[in-house]
Parts: sequence; C-alpha cells; structure tokens
Amino acid sequence: MGTFDEGARVRAGESLKFKAQSEGVTQADLAASMGVSASTVSKVWSGLLKRPLHYVGMATALGFTLEEALGQEDRAGMSGKVIRLGVSPSGPSCHVITVAARKGGSTKTTTSVHLAGGFARMGLRCLLVDLDGQRDSTEWLVDAEVEIGVTADDVLRRGVDPALAIVPSLIDGLDVLPAGDQMDTIESAMAGQWGMERRLDELLEPLRARYDVILYDCPAAMDFRIVSALMSSDWALIPTTSSTLDIKGLVSFIPRVLHYADPARFNPRLQFLGIAVTRVKRNTLLARDARAWLGEEFSGLLFDSVVHESTRYQELAGFQSLIYDHDPERSGDYEQLAFEIAERAGFTPKLGKGREVADG
Ligand SMILES: Nc1ncnc2c1ncn2[C@@H]1O[C@H](COP(=O)(O)OP(=O)(O)OP(=O)(O)O)[C@@H](O)[C@H]1O
Ligand SMILES: [Mg+2]
Repeated sequence: MGTFDEGARVRAGESLKFKAQSEGVTQADLAASMGVSASTVSKVWSGLLKRPLHYVGMATALGFTLEEALGQEDRAGMSGKVIRLGVSPSGPSCHVITVAARKGGSTKTTTSVHLAGGFARMGLRCLLVDLDGQRDSTEWLVDAEVEIGVTADDVLRRGVDPALAIVPSLIDGLDVLPAGDQMDTIESAMAGQWGMERRLDELLEPLRARYDVILYDCPAAMDFRIVSALMSSDWALIPTTSSTLDIKGLVSFIPRVLHYADPARFNPRLQFLGIAVTRVKRNTLLARDARAWLGEEFSGLLFDSVVHESTRYQELAGFQSLIYDHDPERSGDYEQLAFEIAERAGFTPKLGKGREVADG
C-alpha cells in the first residue's frame, strides 16, 4: 500500500513503542496480548514489517486504531479509538505545530521563528504564537512601533478571542500572536481550574481557516501553556542541540508529549512530527556521536536536515531579521528543515515565493 511506505512505518513503529513505554506496557506484555512473538513486536517497533495490519494490531492492543493509514479492506472489522501516528495520507488544511523542549536554551525560539519565516517564504500563511513570558519571538519579529494590546496571556487566562491579539510581523506572510510579560505566572493562576487546557483548542479553531501553518513557541516548562498548545496541535516538534543534557531532557520529554496524543483522554489529532538537531558544530565528535545515537534510538523521527552552529544566529534577534535575509549563504539549513517538515506533514508549498524568487 503506497502510503504506508518505509518512513511512515518507522514513524508508526516508533510512536507505538513510545506509546507502549509511556503506558508501562512491556514488549512481553504486548507480545502476549497480540498473540505474537517478542521479536515480531520488536520488528513492528522498528518499522520492519510491511503489512499495515501488524501496526493496526499493535495499535488496537494499546487501545487505538491506525484508521487513517489504512485502505477500506484493511479497515473492515477495526473499531475503537483513532490515533494517527504520522501515517495519514492527507492531513488537515491548517497544520498547528507545537515547538517545545524540556530544557531552556534548546533553540525553540530560533527554530520557531525560522520555520515560521521559512513557511512564509514558501507562500504559506503563517501565525507564530508566543507562549513564553520572555517574549523572545514577539520582540524578534514584531516592529517595536506596533501597539500590542491583547496578548496570548489574555487568551489563555481569560478566554479572549485570539483573533483580537494578532499583529503583523516584519516578515511578509507571517503574523504573530504576542506573549504577555506575565505569562510565566499562568500556571499557578490556572491550577485547579479543570478543563481549561482544552480552551485554547476551541478558541484557535476559527483561525485554522485563516492560516496554513500555526506554530507555538513554548517556554521551557511542562506547564499549562504547553499542555494547552499540545491539546490544540496536530504536530509536536522537538528541537535539541547535541549537548548531553539537552538530549537527556529530550528523552524524558517525548513520553510526556505522547501522553497528550492519547485520543481517549487528550488530543486524537496530535502526532509526533520529529526531532530537529541544531547548533551542530562541524567535524566534532560530540555532534557526530549525538546524531548517531539519536538516529539509532529515534530513526523515524530524526530529521535529516540539521542546523549548524553559527554566531550569526545570536545577532539575528537584535537586527529583527532572519538568516534568510541576514546571511543568505547560511539560510540552507532552516530552509531544508522547513521543506523536510512540509514533506513529512504533507503541506503544499505555494509556488512563486520560494528562495529563488525572494532572492532574485
Ligand atoms: N544554530 C545556532 N548557532 C549558534 N547559536 C544558536 C543557534 N541557534 C540558536 N542559537 C543561540 O542559542 C541560544 C538559545 O536559543 P533560543 O533562545 O532559540 O532557545 P530557546 O529554547 O528558545 O530558549 P528559552 O528556553 O530561553 O526560550 C540563543 O542565544 C541563540 O541565539
Ligand atoms: Mg525561547
């Protein structure tokens, strides 16, 4: 079946593995409940088995179906809840992406603004939502002259319509929903208010018609803001540097993210988009080892494109510029990553606004 190609199988296998691990289900438990050998479970986890029914069987054993991935004949007889594990042949028309990581400084903001800018350069209508009280992406992208009234803080805390908060950025095709500077206290304010983490999803819904891509730049904390973002997202993307501590944070963060993909309790649309490695120093052992290890552990989820280390990135926010305009020679890394994401998620780049045209 054409849509269930190797990449999709590997991603489905990885997601099933994490799903099982995050639920505390062992390989032996899964083998017993599916009536197969432990080695079959292992092959499904690695994406080695070609028939969708193996993946469906495991998803069902874990309480899900892979309905979106299957043809009619394979769907027959399948019931239960739906999870899409990165194998959907046709995605939503607006893609909402949470960019999050457990560790501070793991390039969430740099990655969010460059992906948003990269998608805008592909001609897609983009919105970047800044959920961090540091307001880094807001100050990076919005002209200081622009008056900011309503912010993401009002949206999350008081349920204000997000459309009222949106301002244009300095980048053509990219809007920003700015952060408020008190956002870091939201967690304590919302504690105990049951169900509030679903509110952002409802509030955001009308904006899906206005944008092709909506990205959340998240703070480095697994708090109410990230949960709200994940509950309203189609995809989760984790950037990491090659640093051992960042990777340690990544490993413990992935099951937390996948937890919110539980369709029965949380968000049935949420899929794991992938892991992007950034600040890669050329010809260093650390970068090589980190990529090799990540490739082994998360093969289907790791993006081929990497973002290299360059001090250029550290001056961009001050210039309120993106690498594409500031240093076009170095713009290939984020451009390639944006294209790889677009391919994996199934975006349709609109022609006429690519790099050649913009630089031309
Ligand atoms: N490719 C790169 N090369 C060199 N420096 C980089 C690169 N990408 C990001 N940086 C720098 O790394 C630092 C952290 O990046 P960034 O602010 O994007 O991370 P963050 O995860 O958003 O941080 P926080 O948790 O504080 O929100 C910044 O000083 C940034 O300029
Ligand atoms: Mg940041």
